[in-house]
Amino acid sequence: MLRRINWLAVLLLALPLTVITEAQTLRDAATARGLRIGAAVNMNPFRNESIYTQTLGREFNILVAENAMKFDAMHPAQNTYNFTDADALVAYAEANNMAVRGHTLVWHSQIPGWLTGGNFTRDQVIAIMRDHIMTVVGRYRGRIAAWDVVNEAVSDNNGQLRTDSFWHQRIGPEYIAMAFQFAHEADPDAKLYYNDYSAEGSGAKSDAVFNLVSGLVNQGVTINGVGWQMHQINPFRIQQAHRTNAQRLASLGLEVSITEMDVRISLPTTAQELSEQALAYRDVVEFCLSQPNVKTLVTWGFTDKYSWIPGFFSGFGDALIFDMNYQPKPAYSAMLSALGGGPPLPAPTGLAATAGNAQIQLIWNPVAGATGYNVKRATTSGGPYTTIATVSTTSYTDTTVTNGTTYFYVVSAFNSAGESANSGQVSATPPAANFALSANPASLTIIRGTSGTSAITITRSGGFSSSVALSAGGLPSGVTATFNPATTTGTSSTLTLAASTTAATGMTSLTITGVGGGLTRTTTLILTVNPAPDFTLSANPSSLTVNQGASAASTLSITRVGGFAGSVAFSASGLPSGVTATFNPPSTTGTSSTVTFTASSAAPLGSANVTISATGGGLTRTATIALTVSGGGGTGGVTITPAINANSPWYNEEVIRLNNTGNITALSVTIVIQRTTGVGLNGQYNTVGGQILQSNTVTPATITYQFTLAPGQTLGMGTNRTFAAQTNGAGTIHPTSGDTYTVTYTTGGVSFTQTGHF
Ligand code: XIL
Repeated sequence: MLRRINWLAVLLLALPLTVITEAQTLRDAATARGLRIGAAVNMNPFRNESIYTQTLGREFNILVAENAMKFDAMHPAQNTYNFTDADALVAYAEANNMAVRGHTLVWHSQIPGWLTGGNFTRDQVIAIMRDHIMTVVGRYRGRIAAWDVVNEAVSDNNGQLRTDSFWHQRIGPEYIAMAFQFAHEADPDAKLYYNDYSAEGSGAKSDAVFNLVSGLVNQGVTINGVGWQMHQINPFRIQQAHRTNAQRLASLGLEVSITEMDVRISLPTTAQELSEQALAYRDVVEFCLSQPNVKTLVTWGFTDKYSWIPGFFSGFGDALIFDMNYQPKPAYSAMLSALGGGPPLPAPTGLAATAGNAQIQLIWNPVAGATGYNVKRATTSGGPYTTIATVSTTSYTDTTVTNGTTYFYVVSAFNSAGESANSGQVSATPPAANFALSANPASLTIIRGTSGTSAITITRSGGFSSSVALSAGGLPSGVTATFNPATTTGTSSTLTLAASTTAATGMTSLTITGVGGGLTRTTTLILTVNPAPDFTLSANPSSLTVNQGASAASTLSITRVGGFAGSVAFSASGLPSGVTATFNPPSTTGTSSTVTFTASSAAPLGSANVTISATGGGLTRTATIALTVSGGGGTGGVTITPAINANSPWYNEEVIRLNNTGNITALSVTIVIQRTTGVGLNGQYNTVGGQILQSNTVTPATITYQFTLAPGQTLGMGTNRTFAAQTNGAGTIHPTSGDTYTVTYTTGGVSFTQTGHF
């Protein structure tokens, strides 16, 4: 309990001793600053919309009749005055403790037809004018603080008086001085104004107004001030010319009042335009506060719901400080805070920092009512902050930064009422000086004996401007690297890699190194050195035996190197006679083919080296196959034909006929005949002669007939050599299909056996 009370005491002590209450209306804020702030009043909503009069009384301490005190409204017939509306306005003002400006006594516009069409003499017109002024001003004597006695008497064109004015035409230029004299007579305490538009700053019309009023002053005419209507087009800002003009009028002893301000916007209106419009209103408030002779600011209406602008300036609107729904616009808030009222300025939002080389750019959102911003920086997060700039814009570029250092920023807004809290903190780090290397292409393939290039790019950042020396490491033997240029302060170099004809082939990873400004950076380049396009040919098997009357195959392999991609065609040479070679496929862009050797049955036996050629891409490569023609499975050029010459119950002869194309160096012909019942040997013979030995063997079941080439004998080429086996008897015909023969012979050094039956 005790503890809690102590804390409460500490808290109470920590509270500020004075609480400052900010004015929450334009009226309160302006009154506090000694300013008259007012608006022109439209009678229709004045009489019919309570929110209109509520707003009017709450926000303004002076009012003016937009139309109700003009000549035609107050003086509809020569002897008739209508004070209803003017009386109501003055009564309202007094009830609400507001001042009144009177607008306007003598103007070329909004004058009644009875006057302009009345054919009055000069003296009569002067008398009418005097009567009007005496009656109207006199009625409100002491109650209307200031009168626009003469309105818009100066021409837009030539800086002269407006000569087409009714008053000028019917009285002459003296009408102006007369009007002021009558008004002064009617209310000696009222401030008397000359009021005009487009005469606020510099220019011929401003000069003409100045000359007019200085003439009146010199004549001793009672004139107290000049009204600047201030009908402006967005965007509008107060210029030095306005201050200069206000000061030269002050030098005549004259006040200036802003009497009819509005800032019309080309429709449709954007948020940006509303912000600009706020600056116009804020400027005029600040102008009034800073000029000792400008203490009244009246806007021509106050809600966009009732403004003369849309009806008089096609396509324009939104010229006032409350919107159509009586909601305060940015212009209202800007005026209020320029008057030192309203809530304290909020801290800026949306602060963002972007680091560049040796600079950090800051942007933030505008704060309504702010006149400027303090940009504060720290090198540790959270401060302490130092104000490094005071700006009126919502961006700032800090160029007093060191690359690689982190900076912390906050921004505050201020106006004449004070400074806001700081915005949220942002930080940024301008990049440290650095560079990076890259190679394009990053992988390169070159053929021995040629060269290739890669573009080396040096990407500089953080203001890195040193010269960079380039080198290449990891080069395979026989490859050289040159950089053009080898050192540069620029951003590129060309690397040429050249491979000798004997350079090591294969893929290598090169390291490209750049050295500069104390930094070393690398990039990798993959280099592939290829041999020249070529191929080799091999055969598997490379030694092959093909039997007569048969085939044998070998697989041919193409080994391609150096990117050789051509089609290769195959052929064979050195084939033994009777042997053919076929290739499948006969040409290929692939890597293999099959060669098949086929030997005819009569192909001479023996061995030969066959050359296989592969041709493609202008290159011919060969492989050798040792080919042996063998008899296995063939006949050696010998044809054996069994025949039956006779077949009857009493006589049978079965023969072997032999044709040979080569020499036979050994021969054995064996015929075995079955013995069926009653069948016996009859005889045997041959057609060769004495070179053949013949014999037979008889068993109960068979008779074997034997013919043999005598040792050392050779049978040359011959046809139809016959070897016959004969039987006889009275038995049955034996089935010859059971009779067999075996012929064994040697030709070409190879032995063959042919068997069969009859
Ligand atoms: C305008 C009113 O706002 C309109 O309602 C009326 O129809 C015409 O006059 N300069 C002046 C003002 O001195 O009296 C004018 O008022 C606007 C221009």
